[in-house]
Amino acid sequence: MSDVQITVHPEARIDRIAPELHGHFSEHLGRCVYDGLYHDPSSPETGFRSDVVSLLSALDIPVLRWPGGCFADDYNWEDGIGPQEDRPARRNLFWAQGREERPEEPNSFGTDEFLQLCERIGTEPYLAANVGSGDPQQATDWVEYCNYDGDTELADRRRENGHPEPYGVKYWGIGNENWGCGGQMTPEQYAREYRKFATYVGSMDKLLLDHDLELIACGFEGHEWNRRFMEEIGTNAWGVEFPLDHLTLHHYYGRTITIEEADTDAFDRFLCEALEIESHIERIAAAINAVATTRDIGVIIDEWGAWHPEAVAESGLEQPGTVIDGVSAAAVLDVFNHHSDVMTMSNIAQTVNVLHCLVETDGEAAWARPTYRVFDLYAPHKGNTAVETSIATPTRAVGDDELPFVGGSASVADEETYLTLTNLDHAAAHDVDITLPGANATTDVSGSLLFGDQSADAVVDASNEEAFESTALDCVVDDHTLSVELPPLSVAGITVR
Ligand code: AHR
Repeated sequence: MSDVQITVHPEARIDRIAPELHGHFSEHLGRCVYDGLYHDPSSPETGFRSDVVSLLSALDIPVLRWPGGCFADDYNWEDGIGPQEDRPARRNLFWAQGREERPEEPNSFGTDEFLQLCERIGTEPYLAANVGSGDPQQATDWVEYCNYDGDTELADRRRENGHPEPYGVKYWGIGNENWGCGGQMTPEQYAREYRKFATYVGSMDKLLLDHDLELIACGFEGHEWNRRFMEEIGTNAWGVEFPLDHLTLHHYYGRTITIEEADTDAFDRFLCEALEIESHIERIAAAINAVATTRDIGVIIDEWGAWHPEAVAESGLEQPGTVIDGVSAAAVLDVFNHHSDVMTMSNIAQTVNVLHCLVETDGEAAWARPTYRVFDLYAPHKGNTAVETSIATPTRAVGDDELPFVGGSASVADEETYLTLTNLDHAAAHDVDITLPGANATTDVSGSLLFGDQSADAVVDASNEEAFESTALDCVVDDHTLSVELPPLSVAGITVR
């Protein structure tokens, strides 16, 4: 007897799920770039880690944000181009990185290395320009270096550095957390700085480039800040009224929940915190729409994921790769699908080794974390159209919140429906009946299940990664109804044709 009922409404279309909702973020921090993406002795020719490159390529990641994070607003891109032996080492104000864990940036991985990594893994690059300690000239020069095809000194330098064709970088972030590490600005201050940068970078776009740039402003989890930013940015005497294509915020969750010490109450609290992302999406969209009535501005969740107390500066922001983190990522990706009408991108933090990474390395070994399996399972949603689902599920009270035991989302493409489900209940399996108009005993259904026999705090390492791969999920189809059983803290993906 089922205790959860889900109805899929294929006619109630939300919007296309931008593939960029499955984007990633990598910063010069800890072992993300050095050791993570770069400097594998097994590929001495290029320095890229071939094992990490093949894991990331297999995931078909749509976008990769770089070089930060707080690092971005203390970074001069010109330090990281040209012959490696001529590049200066610089102190870094925010993070230790590199093999010796010193607050020094060797600059051996710079713009060309990053953009060529993106070419290798087939992803769209997203560069974050320095607003905090930088100036519009630096940002405009960076765009010119990357994207201009004419006869200027900067375009020639790119050619000399091995890339004759412009890279065509589309996404440009104007600053990072400028309310905090990026200059501690008020929203009005940031709006004025932002407008100055956007004037110059935007003029490049109009006059010199043969493709469009998309400009991204960095917002805040305090939504009054976002509203004030939007009001100030919309006030102008000349030029584009709202010179931004996207407004972002960062959402980390789990800061009080150490995996090693967590009990089941802590898991419940952690999952409730992850689900708070929904209200942030709704509130930032409301702040945009209240002010920007004349143009569409997308919502980006630029950095998101679990951040446990284990991840401190001294550990290079590393934390174990667990099932509970993977389950939380699945619940968040379902939320993104529900908001595909306002969301244009999201980037989980961070790609390799740091925070809620998908890939972990140790010396010569590299492996997929449980969250990698989740992104893989959710991949069929990318580019589909999200449709409404109604979910009737039992819940548990967690402080002032209610944790829904079962969640999910659905999307359609051609003759196919793709459904993802999560059981967020650590205590019990749940039987789920899904009403799908048109389904019957001859409908072609296949399902995959993640973490069915794993505990919440199971940690992946190089020797056990296969234990986190998906297994087949039993799906029973009857008249308009599909029935499945979801084990505690598990994630499922179901294709219906
Ligand atoms: O991802 C780690 C840090 O978290 C980033 O540098 C910063 O943007 C955020 O606060």
